[in-house]
Order: sequence, then C-alpha cells, then structure tokens
Amino acid sequence: TGQDALAQIAAAEDLDSVERLRVAFLGKQGSISGLLKTLGAMSPEERQSVGPQIHALRESVTTALAERKAALESAALEARLAAETVDLTLPAPEAPRGTVHPVSQVMDELAEIFADLGFAVATGPEIEDDWHNFTALNMPESHPARAMHDTFYFPDASPAGGKMLLRTHTSPVQIRSMLQHGAPLRIIAPGRVYRSDSDATHTPMFHQVEGIVIDKGIHLGHLKWTLETFLKAFFERDDIVLRLRPSYFPFTEPSVEVDVGFALLSGPDGKSRRVLGGSGDAPGHGWMELLGSGMVNRKVIEFGGLDPDEWQGFAFGIGVDRLAMLKYGMDDLRAFFDGDQRWLAHYGFSA
Ligand code: PHE
Repeated sequence: TGQDALAQIAAAEDLDSVERLRVAFLGKQGSISGLLKTLGAMSPEERQSVGPQIHALRESVTTALAERKAALESAALEARLAAETVDLTLPAPEAPRGTVHPVSQVMDELAEIFADLGFAVATGPEIEDDWHNFTALNMPESHPARAMHDTFYFPDASPAGGKMLLRTHTSPVQIRSMLQHGAPLRIIAPGRVYRSDSDATHTPMFHQVEGIVIDKGIHLGHLKWTLETFLKAFFERDDIVLRLRPSYFPFTEPSVEVDVGFALLSGPDGKSRRVLGGSGDAPGHGWMELLGSGMVNRKVIEFGGLDPDEWQGFAFGIGVDRLAMLKYGMDDLRAFFDGDQRWLAHYGFSA
C-alpha cells in the first residue's frame, strides 16, 4: 500500500537503500510501474476512478524518494565537514626559500667595498665585438695573446663587419667606460666571461671583476694601495700581504701579477688548508697568484679617446669565483654552476 511504501522510504538508512526502493517501486519491473500497466486493460469507468489514485501514488513515492535522498546527502556532508575540521593551531609546513648564490654575494661585497673607495659599478655586453675585446686593448688581429683566450666566436659578423664573440674578460668595459664617460674615471665592472676551457678549476663561463682608474698623476703605488685595502676588507684580515711580480698583458704597461701570502694549516680532517695572511716567504707559508693588473697602456688610453700625456691610470682583473672559493672554503669550481640544491642550501646566503 501507499502508506507502506512511504514508511519504507522514510526508514531507508543510506543512499543505496533509497536506490533499491526506487527500483522496487518505479523501476521497469517496479510495483507502481506494474499498477500503471494494469490501466490499459481497464474499462474507461474503472480507469477514471483508479487512474488518478495510481498517479497520485507514483507522485508521492517519487517526492518521498527525492526528499529522503536529499536528507541523506546533506547528513553525509555534515558528517564529513565535522570529521574534516582544519586544526588552525598546527604549525604550517615550512615553505622552501631560495638563497643568494655565493657569486652574487661576493659581487655585492665587492661593489660595497669599492663604493667606499669611490668606485662606481659599470657593465658591458657579454656578446662583444672583436674590437672592444681585443683590438682596442692593444691586441691587433695577429697578436699572439689572442690565441691564449680560447675564444667562443659567433659565425656571423657584426653589422659593422667585425667578428662577434663571447667576451673573454671584463677588460672591454675599460674601453666602453672611457669612451662613454671620459676622464677622470673610477669604476669596477663585475660580470660573466667565457672561455672554451673546462676542468676542476676552469668552467666555460666564469666571473671577473674589472677595475679601472683614470686620473692625473696615477702610479703603481695607487694600484698597490687600492688592491691591499680592498683585499683586507674582503678577507676581513689586516695581515694580508701582497707580492707584485712583473708580468705581461698587452693592455697594461708595466704589467703586474699580484700574489697573496698564505699559511698552510692542517685541518681537523688531516687535510691541509691555505689560509690567507702573512708573508708567503715565512716558514710554512706560500704565495698564491690572485690577479692581473698594471698601468693602463698608452695605446689603450688612446683607444679610449683620451690623451695619454694628460691621463694615466691603472687597471686590474680578478676572478670572482676564485675569490668566493678562497673566502668560503669551496674546492670545486664546477659546483658553482651545477645548480645542486643541497650545495646552494649549504653555501648560499639567506636573503
Ligand atoms: N683581462 C685580464 C685577464 O682576463 C686581467 C687583467 C685586467 C690584467 C686588467 C690587467 C689589467 O686575464
């Protein structure tokens, strides 16, 4: 009966039971569907009195099923929400944070130290032309020093006809700065440089910082004082001792290779470490080659658009990666550019 059907629906405890009842009453073989089929065999009078009753029954059963289904669904949702409450007192998982790469950190330190000495920061393009990278630095087409640079050349020439290359040093910024700013001039130029070379101490891309001072009456004493002051500040040691050795670069005359004294100390792991400080001539000490420098060659001053009888200067170029390795005790240059998250987390600087 109708009362029976409605009672069963009201008692259904889950959605599966509701579905089973729907099939039992309204499905193709369902009892109410069966009643509807009997209408066809009835006389018109009979149909007129029984038909509305059957339709009303189907209506009320359909409504009851839908209501029961909605009630069960909302109860299920309530239960889930109650079970899944968020505990706002739980500590949040730590968000991974990046670090400042040691090379970037060192470049920042360099810029800060040299800013105190009155140097501005200049930049130049990494894709450079032959003239700025070589010719204007007193290395004409046939100069043997060009061969020592293991240069990456581009297949196409510049619009002006010169060869294009990846700059092999930051020295072309000397020329660009003189041409752009004239004299007096006091700049450093940190940046990437490229040479076709790769082993534990060489990578095809590495970093240099160039320095150039152009003014009146500049001499080697200014160069030595500047480098000494810079290195003491950078390595945070007053006992840094420099040794200037005669050398050769086409763009400086005279040219000076600068060594720094270190002590050989054995660490707790038995390995010996070079610790900067003291004269390299002292017992248990040595000299380490650190950078190239010299008085800017007269020809280079001319290529920079200045009169070498009026202006003199000094220049230097240092490997930034090497400075970082020395200061922070890293031993493989290649690790700098692997992008290994563990290495970066260990050696990187929090921002
Ligand atoms: N450009 C030179 C090099 O890459 C370094 C240097 C710079 C030497 C300035 C002297 C003066 O080796």
